[in-house]
Amino acid sequence: MFLFPVGLVLSALLTTASCTPASTGLHVLGRRDSPPSGFTFVGAASPDSVLNLRIALTQSDPAALEEALYDVSTPSSSNYKQYLSKEDVSAFVAPSPEAVSAVNAWLQENDITAKTLTPAGDWVEVQIPVSKANEIFNADYSVFKHESTGKQTIRTLSYSIPEELTDHVAIVHPTTTFVFPTYKASLPAFRKVSSRAANTGVIDTASSCADTITPACLQSLYNLPSTPATQTSNTLGVSGFSDQYANQADLATFLETYRTDMSSDTTFTVETLDGGSDPQDGSDAGDEANLDTQYTVGLATDVPVVFISVGENTNDGDLDGFLDIINYLLAQDAPPQVLTTSYGSSESDVPIAMAENLCNAYAQLGARGVSILFASGDGGVSGPQDSLFCWDFVPTFPSGCPYLTSVGATTGISPETAADFSSGGFSNYWGVPSYQQSAVSGYLSYLGDTYSGRYNASGRGYPDVSAQGENFNIVLDQDVESVSGTSCASPTFASVIALLNDELIAAGKSPLGFLNPWLYSTAASSLNDVTSGDNPGCFSDGFSATTGWDPVTGLGTPDYTSLRTAAGL
Ligand SMILES: *[C@@H]1O[C@H](CO)[C@@H](O)[C@H](O)[C@H]1NC(C)=O
Repeated sequence: MFLFPVGLVLSALLTTASCTPASTGLHVLGRRDSPPSGFTFVGAASPDSVLNLRIALTQSDPAALEEALYDVSTPSSSNYKQYLSKEDVSAFVAPSPEAVSAVNAWLQENDITAKTLTPAGDWVEVQIPVSKANEIFNADYSVFKHESTGKQTIRTLSYSIPEELTDHVAIVHPTTTFVFPTYKASLPAFRKVSSRAANTGVIDTASSCADTITPACLQSLYNLPSTPATQTSNTLGVSGFSDQYANQADLATFLETYRTDMSSDTTFTVETLDGGSDPQDGSDAGDEANLDTQYTVGLATDVPVVFISVGENTNDGDLDGFLDIINYLLAQDAPPQVLTTSYGSSESDVPIAMAENLCNAYAQLGARGVSILFASGDGGVSGPQDSLFCWDFVPTFPSGCPYLTSVGATTGISPETAADFSSGGFSNYWGVPSYQQSAVSGYLSYLGDTYSGRYNASGRGYPDVSAQGENFNIVLDQDVESVSGTSCASPTFASVIALLNDELIAAGKSPLGFLNPWLYSTAASSLNDVTSGDNPGCFSDGFSATTGWDPVTGLGTPDYTSLRTAAGL
């Protein structure tokens, strides 16, 4: 392998191009004028720094994947719940043989060996030094600093592939994407509620559900059963990122305090990838990770919960973690039937090709019978909570993906109203899916000209549903703290689905799988419609909750008794 100093890259490339008859030119695959706000240029990257670059080959038939997903997820379809195998879904996204051989030939020409990352072979990874990456992608990998965290990252402002690969390569990562996304729970109302009395070790639990949410409040509000689930094959997955560790001792205290009817030994299992670790010192406990495990183990009584902790080994941004966790699950023969994730970013921070690839990965899991739930975001119509300066509303990612269930937040109990931070709106990347058409057009006629031009009236609307999201008591490092965010809502809704799946499997039936076509039809009237409140942001009052679906609370919050019936139980 030859290493070129950065300054020589251009001439080297031109030489290669003019000597190789097939290389008629370059196709720019990604370009931005400057790093996004919050990042500053530090300097050229060392030519010897090794990059793990992932290359997404163009998927052969994502339209057929979508069709298959809807076919098995739509209650009126004759194939409802006839879920596909790993091999079946892989076939839809596997690159064509031409794509594989063209990309292989090009890599070989450049002395590069690639490793396949997914069952379908649509992602490959190469490890090459910056110098080589600059050469073959006509890139200029540089060091950028994320101002608020001080983290440094190597990115390029533009990159290209040989023209003859234009139809075969969808994206190379990391290149022009700078995401350090994430909303996670707890920012708006993170406060310590009470400490354990040192002498008795007892936490004062007397409070009203109007001020403080505990598992008992959610059980009563949503008619959730407290009887133990019985099916060991039924699993609820919880995504963990950003060095957020879930603490077992905190969970035990949480259960002793709020689920005195459960064994306080009830716990979750941990799976790690990308060098993720599982430190159990109280000071390592993360608010988000503890919230997500306490409100799954503590609500989905005795459903096996797996906490999947994604480290930052091979990557320096959560987007890589998003890819890795989903590829990890796609490779499993029996992935969890429900996955809840309380992380995300603004949609425009994710290049559309990457967004589509991730969205198609959620579709693959959905077609295999997995329910994918994401928190919708905590900044109202301004998207992630850090987008304070906006005029046009900021859609969040991945909530705009039509193949997952986006969960917004409510507050108050009689009646429930929209939590004002609940992100909702319309995607700029995906159009309105058919299952949602009448719900969205109903809302748009209600809206009339209001906010015209500030949101995408032809985009997929989100969230799909909602659940309580304010003032959840959690145990963190053995203290009780109160947290808020759509991060509270997603694990809550996921627990509802996991409990339904337990009953379905016990009755010899299939789990619910991709939820939306069912939610918007059979189950719509089994949700509590939330009709007041709004989600301000971008110098506006935001959207208003109203009768029927709205881009603040979706179709509404769960009523377990009624959802059981809608699920055929
Ligand atoms: C609005 O959404 C549609 C449908 O997804 C998309 O094609 C269009 O590009 C979006 N418009 C803007 C301005 O992003």
